[in-house]
Amino acid sequence: MGAGPSARSDPMRSVFTMLMAIAFGFFIGKSFPSLSISKLSIPTSLILCTEVSFPKCEAQEIKDRPRSSSLASNEIQNSSANQSQGDIWVPTNPRGAERLPPGIVAAESDLYLRKLWGNPSEDLTNKPKYLVTFTVGYKQRKNVDAAVKKFSGNFTIMMFHYDGRTTEWDEFEWSRKAIHVSVPKQTKWWYAKRFLHPDIVAPYEYIFIWDEDLGVEHFNAEEYIKLVRKHGLEISQPALDPKSKGFNWQITRRRVGQEIHRDENPSPPGCPGPREPPCAGFVEIMATVFSRDAWRCVWHLIQNDLVHGWGLDFSLRRCVERAREKIGVVDSQWIVHQAVPSLGDQGEASQEKKPCQGVRERCKMEWGMFNNRLVAADEDYLRPKQS
Ligand SMILES: *[C@@H]1O[C@H](CO)[C@@H](O)[C@H](O)[C@H]1NC(C)=O
Ligand SMILES: *[C@@H]1O[C@H](CO)[C@@H](O)[C@H](O)[C@H]1NC(C)=O
Ligand SMILES: *[C@@H]1O[C@H](CO)[C@@H](O)[C@H](O)[C@H]1NC(C)=O
Repeated sequence: MGAGPSARSDPMRSVFTMLMAIAFGFFIGKSFPSLSISKLSIPTSLILCTEVSFPKCEAQEIKDRPRSSSLASNEIQNSSANQSQGDIWVPTNPRGAERLPPGIVAAESDLYLRKLWGNPSEDLTNKPKYLVTFTVGYKQRKNVDAAVKKFSGNFTIMMFHYDGRTTEWDEFEWSRKAIHVSVPKQTKWWYAKRFLHPDIVAPYEYIFIWDEDLGVEHFNAEEYIKLVRKHGLEISQPALDPKSKGFNWQITRRRVGQEIHRDENPSPPGCPGPREPPCAGFVEIMATVFSRDAWRCVWHLIQNDLVHGWGLDFSLRRCVERAREKIGVVDSQWIVHQAVPSLGDQGEASQEKKPCQGVRERCKMEWGMFNNRLVAADEDYLRPKQS
């Protein structure tokens, strides 16, 4: 993880890297309460406030240091000694934080960029209400640039780089304010599971988790949000231009002259039932948009090892009450799926197989595994409990 080679030269970038490190650490702390942060090794490059980082400030600091630092540590010892006498235990605090007084517990975070100087209360000039993530390789930069430009300043932009190239993106002005996470050869759902924990993305009302190969000529994100809000869609996607390549499900096909649709009507022969996915309560996973509440559930549904997310689309409705009403396709803001193989080409080639073949096989295998797990979990839950 990191922000690539430019991290050292660009101070804002360092902030992103650090922010991601903090976010990641926070997430680990949450998920594995027994692992304390002190046991994590923090790369020394992230520790900014050492004397090495500030050669020019050093002269002044040396004069100040002995007094101020011994005073400070005294105060810290004294106050922590006093607190531990106070037997704090707050069961309503988040799990693991019961020993802290509730007033100091910061249970949620955000992806807002802060300054290294000045008053923290003056760091943020705006607090974006929406988040969009793109999982990208540099080859798709033109397409991604066009897509990013359809998202207003009300969005935090987050890039997941699967090809290890991050610095090059700085040719785009927006890239300097975006959050970059670079981990080679990982999938969208792998990143989402690791870096979009619901407590980290808590301030964002809607979260767009998008692929890189979408044509956005007829799409505007602000207009899109107005529509999903109006129609109460918790999970949605823009409709696909019927001329899109790689059409998988008919329900995603754009219907001209209407704002949204929620099902296939009349339901075509292939449907398991008119109310069943993929004919209702269904969107695909290429350009999905989640409300904050829906994402809190879907994050938990994503399996750590099933990185391609196949089968997830059929189960999204598990996360929404009255899914037939609250999952839908937005027709009047629509996109073109260009079906670029992208990550498929990052598989491992062998004598017998092309790289994309191995990836495809894994996708299908994961789908089966996901379904089996869900069936087993249902059965386990429904089985009468022995007392
Ligand atoms: C705690 O603070 C008092 C003064 O407030 C000081 O005399 C004492 O040495 C401190 N104790 C420790 C353990 O630092
Ligand atoms: C610690 O508690 C003692 C007595 O309860 C109090 O006099 C002292 O000021 C406290 N120290 C700090 C640093 O709060
Ligand atoms: C951002 O959100 C505010 C409040 O909803 C809205 O008034 C404003 O028009 C939005 N900005 C853009 C560029 O659409």
